[in-house]
Amino acid sequence: MIRIAIDGPAGSGKSTMAKIIANKLKINYLDSGALYRIIGYYCVKNNIDLEDKKSIKDILPQIKIDLKDHKYFLNDEEISEQIRNAESGNYASMVAKVPEVREKINQILRTMSQEMSTVIDGRDIGTVVIPDAEIKIFLTASVEERAKRRYDELSEKGKKVDYKSILEQIIFRDKADSSRSIAPLKPAEEAIKINTTNMDIEEVTKKIIEIIKEKNYGN
Ligand code: CDP
Ligand code: CDP
Repeated sequence: MIRIAIDGPAGSGKSTMAKIIANKLKINYLDSGALYRIIGYYCVKNNIDLEDKKSIKDILPQIKIDLKDHKYFLNDEEISEQIRNAESGNYASMVAKVPEVREKINQILRTMSQEMSTVIDGRDIGTVVIPDAEIKIFLTASVEERAKRRYDELSEKGKKVDYKSILEQIIFRDKADSSRSIAPLKPAEEAIKINTTNMDIEEVTKKIIEIIKEKNYGN
């Protein structure tokens, strides 16, 4: 049984790396950010003011989240695609300040990762959700590089995007995630930090696999 926590800011490469590592080790992958995005999406759909923590808390019992074959379901409706845009990331960041939202999501993540070996990516996996994870990685990259990655990703998909506004969104989320009082974005003390600014996906993969092997897992 192994639990690998991969934390870091937006665009640092968490989900890319988590998917690759899960595939290589043939273990499960959980995207914790998707769960925050789902709750943000539901609140906006239901005209909840995202600054109103009480209303967000009160609406939580109406939300049922399921994950099947890497697809995300909100009250039995698949919404994997709808939660992928930049706005959903911002909505997620806002609902993520509500303690009851975090508790609900942490509970789901802990239950799922108890059943089988898992890679989980997020902001607070190594610090709060699974503090006893066998491996903790914290990815970083300069804010310009992270904005560039998002820009390239969206351009490749044929979307019309503006680098400056992507950079602004990332700066906004970095600030919101690092400064919130509950579970702020920060590396766990024993996390291994990798600055990926000048590393491609292959290099980061190699580095993470080395770390896992050094700890005598994943052979
Ligand atoms: O999950 P997170 O927001 O941390 O980042 P991501 O969605 O995994 O990565 C954002 C983009 O950067 C993706 O298009 C990756 O292919 C790319 N990437 C990269 O160019 N170099 C890396 N070392 C890691 C990711
Ligand atoms: O992929 P990207 O890094 O852009 O975002 P994400 O991982 O989908 O997370 C969206 C937002 O959810 C983040 O900006 C955080 O505010 C929040 N989040 C969190 O608070 N804790 C987590 N474990 C994961 C996400």
